Amino acid sequence: MHKAEFLDIDQTEISSVLAGGYNHPLLREWQSERQLSKNMLIFPLFISDNPDESTPIESLPNIKRFGVNKLSEYLKPLVAKGLKSVILFGVPLKAGIKDEFGTAADDPEGPVIQGIKVLRENFPDLYIACDVCLCEYTSHGHCGVLLPDGTIDRERSVARIAAVAVNYAKAGANCVAPSDMIDGRIKEIKRGLINAKLAHKTFVLSYSAKFSGNLYGPFRDAACSSPSAGDRKCYQLPPAGRGLARRALKRDLNEGADGIIIKPSTFYLDIMREASDICADLPICAYHVSGEYAMLHAAAEKGIVDLKTIAFESHQGFLRAGARLIITYFAPEFLEWLDN
Ligand code: PBG
Ligand code: ZN
Repeated sequence: MHKAEFLDIDQTEISSVLAGGYNHPLLREWQSERQLSKNMLIFPLFISDNPDESTPIESLPNIKRFGVNKLSEYLKPLVAKGLKSVILFGVPLKAGIKDEFGTAADDPEGPVIQGIKVLRENFPDLYIACDVCLCEYTSHGHCGVLLPDGTIDRERSVARIAAVAVNYAKAGANCVAPSDMIDGRIKEIKRGLINAKLAHKTFVLSYSAKFSGNLYGPFRDAACSSPSAGDRKCYQLPPAGRGLARRALKRDLNEGADGIIIKPSTFYLDIMREASDICADLPICAYHVSGEYAMLHAAAEKGIVDLKTIAFESHQGFLRAGARLIITYFAPEFLEWLDN
């Protein structure tokens, strides 16, 4: 009896006992290389050109689209709870605003530039990022300017996108985040910012690895930005395109990106991991997109998952994969759930 017990212990490799490492709540926190904190969160805001709007978006639970007059009242409690950063998306609702060049994107009276001004005035310390794209403002709903055959006119698109980015920075945006995925726009934006003497105070956060897929539906409802014909498969990356993602990451790094976004997030953790090697010297941002957020809510409603637990599990996954920032519709909930 005594001998058998002794043998058992002897046959156990000392290194095979792991439970000593995580048997206490504090130890479980010590096991994370990076802990979720409020300063990592970037909250998406949809701002329309209807100044008094406050409309729930059916496919995006708890998220509303606001007019500039309603923004501050909504954000005040969030900022008080520790929200540090937002990313703005403009939504022109008025008829006759859209054209083939996306002229309204940087209209000084439009929702983004007006939104920047209102937020800057009311929340001087809030870090304001702006999504830069043309799809919300083009009559055809594509992310750039088109050639007569309906494909992307790269040169005109990147020139227009760079001009919009510079105008957002001029209006007071701290960060410009081009989501169009058209080749060469980072270089063009950087050059534009340098010429405008704004490069030293503007962070260029590139959506470098943005995949074309089925997870942007609720966003397109909120932003009214679905293409009227065709899809975005010739500029957003194909879901299986790991090599293309690596090339896009290297390219944007070389063109001067200050940070990079991997989007969507949950389905692309391998890319996030690789990005944190390829772009090791830049902050990596995960974008937990509208479809992922809506899926988790739907699963929670069905009783398949617990919303808070799954929100932590998914977002901890991004940090584990190498992200340092997260654009997330869960930001208001995390401000409640996190201590700091
Ligand atoms: C605009 C843009 C999109 C998203 C961010 N910027 C939509 C798209 O590319 O169709 C999606 C974000 C989300 O789904 O939450 N190009
Ligand atoms: Zn777009």
